[in-house]
Amino acid sequence: MTLDTLADYLTAIDGIGELKRVREPVKVELELCEIADRVSKRPGGGDAILFEHPILRDGTRSPYPVAINCFGSMRRMALGLGVKQLDEHGDRITKLLDLKVPEGLLGKLQLLPRLLEVAKFPPRMSSGPPACQEVIWRGDEIDLDKLPILTCWPEDGGPYVTMTMVISKDPARGIRNVGMYRVQQLGKREVAMHWQRHKVGAAHFREMAERGEKMPVCIVVGADPASMYSASAPLPPNVDEFIFAGFLRKAPVKLAKAVTCDLEVPAEAEFVLEGYIDPAEALVVEGPFGDHTGYYSEADRIPRCTSPR
Ligand SMILES: Cc1cc2nc3c(=O)[nH]c(=O)nc-3n(C[C@H](O)[C@H](O)[C@H](O)COP(=O)(O)O)c2cc1C
Repeated sequence: MTLDTLADYLTAIDGIGELKRVREPVKVELELCEIADRVSKRPGGGDAILFEHPILRDGTRSPYPVAINCFGSMRRMALGLGVKQLDEHGDRITKLLDLKVPEGLLGKLQLLPRLLEVAKFPPRMSSGPPACQEVIWRGDEIDLDKLPILTCWPEDGGPYVTMTMVISKDPARGIRNVGMYRVQQLGKREVAMHWQRHKVGAAHFREMAERGEKMPVCIVVGADPASMYSASAPLPPNVDEFIFAGFLRKAPVKLAKAVTCDLEVPAEAEFVLEGYIDPAEALVVEGPFGDHTGYYSEADRIPRCTSPR
């Protein structure tokens, strides 16, 4: 079965007995991550957990649940990427790389099917209104405080979304990138964009800054598991993560036009934060953040991403 949404993935995880549901209210500030930290460090990676009633900073219940540790076991990772063993994908990639280019046109042409396999399932634009735009917040409705954004560690600079898919485009060549970069919530409509200097999103930003143009960015949370994983994969800058996700899924990813800019987003994403980065604006302080190294990374100055009015 192809998993098209985060909900499909959770259903599949439930089906293999690796999903726990927490019905008690749990605070997004420190409490939820304390549980996540303990569970994910269990032998084998612990279960995935769906917190059904996160408690927001103002003490009210979030209408949106929070799923954590979905990719936290080898079995769930393989499930998300549609294989029994992750090596199956490794073998497919090895076969593609092991291309001894034969002499003569006929021999070369015979290679084509293998090369085309990578791009056999390019993303498809959805027809009709996409599920991710069933509810659209505009103007003063935009309020990140209404979302269950987690504060993980006591010394963190603020709440963070860590498992993002940050979508941007190379302004010169139009090639899309999807990168997983943490973002820190700064206000109701602003986040700090933590792409490291050598990442593709950062390169796009430098190019936009040289042109003196505002950079449109879409921050997606929750989509089909192959696309989510692809955002974290260190692919070459000219490989579109949604084509790679199609290769993993053996089915195209369905995309839709963003509402406020010329980018495409997964049509069935749970949340899409549309924004822009203005290179003329001063950088903002981000961090500290309790990183996966077990230490806090220090505060730094990075670009701010704001939702359009
Ligand atoms: C949960 C998670 C959080 C991550 N956070 C960041 C981050 O804040 N900044 C960053 O530069 N890379 C981060 N990474 C690593 C990038 O996702 C990874 O290097 C990816 O290949 C970047 O995509 P790109 O090559 O298209 O820039 C994170 C990875 C994971 C799995």
